[in-house]
Amino acid sequence: MNPDLSQIGKQMSKRTGVRAIMKDIIETLHGGGGQEFINLSAGNPTILPEVVALWRDCTAELLASSEYGEVVCRYGSSQGYAPLIEAIARDFNQRYGVHLRDRNILITPGSQALYFYAANAFGGYREDGKLKQILLPLSPEYTGYGGVSLTPEAVVACKPLIEIDEPTHRFKYSPDFDQLQMTPETGCVIFSRPCNPTGNVLSDEEVRKIATLAEPFNVPVLVDSAYAPPYPSLNFTPMTPIFGENILHCLSLSKVGLPGERIGIAIGNPELIEVLESFQTNACIHSPRYGQAIAARAIASGKLADIAETVVRPHYQHKFTVLETTLDAVMPKNIPWFLHQGEGAIFAWLWFPDLPQSDWELYQALKKAGVIAVPGSSFFPGLQEEWAHKEQCLRISLTATPDEIALGMERLAAVVEQVWR
Ligand SMILES: Cc1ncc(COP(=O)(O)O)c(C=O)c1O
Repeated sequence: MNPDLSQIGKQMSKRTGVRAIMKDIIETLHGGGGQEFINLSAGNPTILPEVVALWRDCTAELLASSEYGEVVCRYGSSQGYAPLIEAIARDFNQRYGVHLRDRNILITPGSQALYFYAANAFGGYREDGKLKQILLPLSPEYTGYGGVSLTPEAVVACKPLIEIDEPTHRFKYSPDFDQLQMTPETGCVIFSRPCNPTGNVLSDEEVRKIATLAEPFNVPVLVDSAYAPPYPSLNFTPMTPIFGENILHCLSLSKVGLPGERIGIAIGNPELIEVLESFQTNACIHSPRYGQAIAARAIASGKLADIAETVVRPHYQHKFTVLETTLDAVMPKNIPWFLHQGEGAIFAWLWFPDLPQSDWELYQALKKAGVIAVPGSSFFPGLQEEWAHKEQCLRISLTATPDEIALGMERLAAVVEQVWR
């Protein structure tokens, strides 16, 4: 059957961003003709035994408790499971000296759903026909933002400033505040901190500056904290969550062992939370409660924050160190290559100015050498303008083993040398 799709149906049934490349990657991995690949493309987190044990213990507690029937056999409130909301409020109040109450918090089925609600509630066409934009202040950005709006033309992104350290082959992006303009047409702002794909962490001051620019226009600023403290604490540089009248601080438990349970958390002004909650009621009633019930236990006991700091962060930070020391040792010295400062998340981001081919061709050449990484051009959602940089980057995942990462970087160095020759 070939259904006659609506405009939205057509758009939402397309693969966007990295999902389009993932199809090629999956076909390569499954049909490799006996070739073994080092897969440095995965966004799926590594399964860590200590983290699995925590969730297993929380599940055993839940199964043994009288709460079990209430959790799985009944509908709940759209806002989320009350013990989880209470545990988050108490934890954040103690940790950050804020004064969160239950109405400041919403639980969603994963944080991707939260960005979908926000992008369509605050962005898109208004009743008067004006387009409200979803502004990504620093491109490159999380590829998933490319698919969140039912009005794709609403997503717009700004080119960054680039600071280069030639002798060490490192670089860093920062927001270009001369380009970053809020207007009555700005609907909401979204950025990831730490950033997927680059590992960049916007400073506390930069976050405050963005929120201050947005405030006079009543623009909500969503800080995507999928890699931030206190869980999963995948920051390798100090950073503090920033709260404010127009800031929606958005968490995800996916990188601390629960990607399958789909738990996203929005923290902010009750008026913003209410808008998102109503959106959620219409979309799916509420998030599943089993994951929420085990998360409530892990957060209330303090074990989730502990394991994030003592197990999850060191695991990925070590792999970043392996990656950068290998690159420093094996990359050709006479070729321009730059690694983005590894400030957090579970990826490394490489930039090759003057790359004599496109990032897609580099990806294909790497595949021939048995390594799969993600071509960088998938990570510029909303950036329409021509910019050579968009086709000069590569995202490398830190989810493989340290040995695989080191070998992958050695093969990358050999491919790069060949490409330049
Ligand atoms: C920056 C960022 N935001 C959001 C998400 C979506 O996460 P979730 O599993 O909470 O929907 C991801 C997933 O990888 C991500 O990297």
